[in-house]
Amino acid sequence: MVISQPKFNLKPFNTFRMDVLCNRWIEYTSPDDLPGVFCAISSEKFKHIGAGSNLLFVGDYDGVILHSRILDMTVSSDGKGWTLLRCGAGITMDELISQCASNGLWGLENLSGIPGEVGASAVQNIGAYGVEVADVIRKVECYDVISNRFMSFTADECHYGYRDSMFKQPEFVNRYVVTYVTFALTSKASPKLDYGNLREALSDKTSPSPLDVREAVMRVRECKLPSVDKVGSAGSYFKNPVVSEDVFRQVETIAKSEHGHDYRVPHYMVGNMVKIPAAWLIEQSGMKDFRLGNAATWHSQPLVIVNASGQASPNDILALEDLVRERVYDKFSVRLHTEVEHV
Ligand code: EPU
Repeated sequence: MVISQPKFNLKPFNTFRMDVLCNRWIEYTSPDDLPGVFCAISSEKFKHIGAGSNLLFVGDYDGVILHSRILDMTVSSDGKGWTLLRCGAGITMDELISQCASNGLWGLENLSGIPGEVGASAVQNIGAYGVEVADVIRKVECYDVISNRFMSFTADECHYGYRDSMFKQPEFVNRYVVTYVTFALTSKASPKLDYGNLREALSDKTSPSPLDVREAVMRVRECKLPSVDKVGSAGSYFKNPVVSEDVFRQVETIAKSEHGHDYRVPHYMVGNMVKIPAAWLIEQSGMKDFRLGNAATWHSQPLVIVNASGQASPNDILALEDLVRERVYDKFSVRLHTEVEHV
């Protein structure tokens, strides 16, 4: 079934809660609808979205916005101990995670509380608390808009990286529409608790269940991140920059000159490069809990920009984005790149 509406307000479909319009809104419930949908769109500009939890509409969208309502799921076994869940792209990720955790299936629980839908999670390679969704993806099924064919990719073929995949490469954007994602989960206990204070949040459990881990992750997130039901945001606005060791040493010199010789700059090695938390760079640049007009950086996680008054326009968010980037660059000569996609 296809639902098509002209001049549609996208406020319920962007977690920044911006009042923006698109020329046409199309929702479909089955992959079989897609050939007809793309035939009807013809040469019109289009953008496929999920829950709109990782994007900023910079104004009204002069084209068609597509949204999947493929919501079916099938469960099977690969015969090697893995439970395979083939999930429609429109399923809400956190509802799926809640079901899996309640049924004792391991693999997705660290991603609890991330807003968004299954299809977009496989494009964006969502991640949190030491797990990326790519770790549990077995297969991604798509509709190829150009060849008008259905095809499927293994996780290797998706070329997953930090918040990155083949689907985000310029030559493939708007080419593949994700229809189903198959996750491989296990009932064999496999908690991943090494990130941050997750183990500490579970210190009262000797052998935690996936549900215990999910609940701990939700508690940790609640302390740090704004709930998108209460405050408009798109989660992490910036990526954590990955810099050369030389640049890291410069950053370290600046930090030590301010905080003393024993100060340790938080960082993680990624091969021979160094990942520095954007939150730290922003805080050290005096931009934590910083308000500019209707936009602000979040008080306990400044790499999140929020719609502070509920009335922010795209320009309010963009003005704060520019100021944060500028202040961080002026102080540390490190460029921040946005994780949030501008549409
Ligand atoms: N930090 C500060 N000041 C702060 C907060 C944090 O200096 O006010 C520093 C601390 O050193 C802290 C470090 O930043 O140890 C890292 O902070 P945190 O563990 O909260 O995670 P993050 O690296 O900032 C990433 C993801 C989040 C994800 C968390 C937990 C990115 C861009 N963000 O944030 O993802 O929830 O790890 O795994 O990689 C999202 O993608 O929308 C998102 C929220």
